[in-house]
Amino acid sequence: MAKSIKYAVLTSSDSGFAGERQDIGGDAVVKLMARHNHALSQRALEPDDRDRLMERLRAWSAQPDIELILTTGGTGLGPRDVMPEATLSVVEYEVPGLAEAMRAESLRITPMAMLSRAVAGVAERTLIVNLPGNPKGAIETLEVVLPVLAHAVEIIRDTHAGDHPIQSQHRHQ
Ligand code: MTE
Repeated sequence: MAKSIKYAVLTSSDSGFAGERQDIGGDAVVKLMARHNHALSQRALEPDDRDRLMERLRAWSAQPDIELILTTGGTGLGPRDVMPEATLSVVEYEVPGLAEAMRAESLRITPMAMLSRAVAGVAERTLIVNLPGNPKGAIETLEVVLPVLAHAVEIIRDTHAGDHPIQSQHRHQ
């Protein structure tokens, strides 16, 4: 059976934090991850505030039971969209291929994909991946990277043994 990832979801939304809007982007992410048997460790909603987002990302990255943090929202061009900046402030290194793939695949669906500044990177052996905030965008982008996340987490934690699952899948077809 495929590895179950222990993950957390962090939503950046002023209106969500004020209780004016439901976190449907976060809900959609949790639903898709559950379908793939991944285990939700934590979930939080913060306002679009760089310090608060950084604090949350730092605290969760230090938690051994969180291997992956999926963020939703705050990746656009608005003055309050600061999730990429918060993420870049906490990661030790970026994983640009994940963000590149999300944007490239999303461009087949909508030119609006160009407007997400999402980044991905690793902080204290925890993979952090930014997703857009609207449920459609969050799901479309998560579906692009989902096939490689379990393997990515294993490499980051140094728990991976043996074959690359995706390569071997191809070889055995
Ligand atoms: N990517 C996909 N695949 N599908 C989408 O609908 N929406 C875009 C973009 N990326 C979208 C997408 C839009 S409209 C915006 S403004 C940016 O993500 C940033 O969204 P955010 O500010 O909620 O993070």
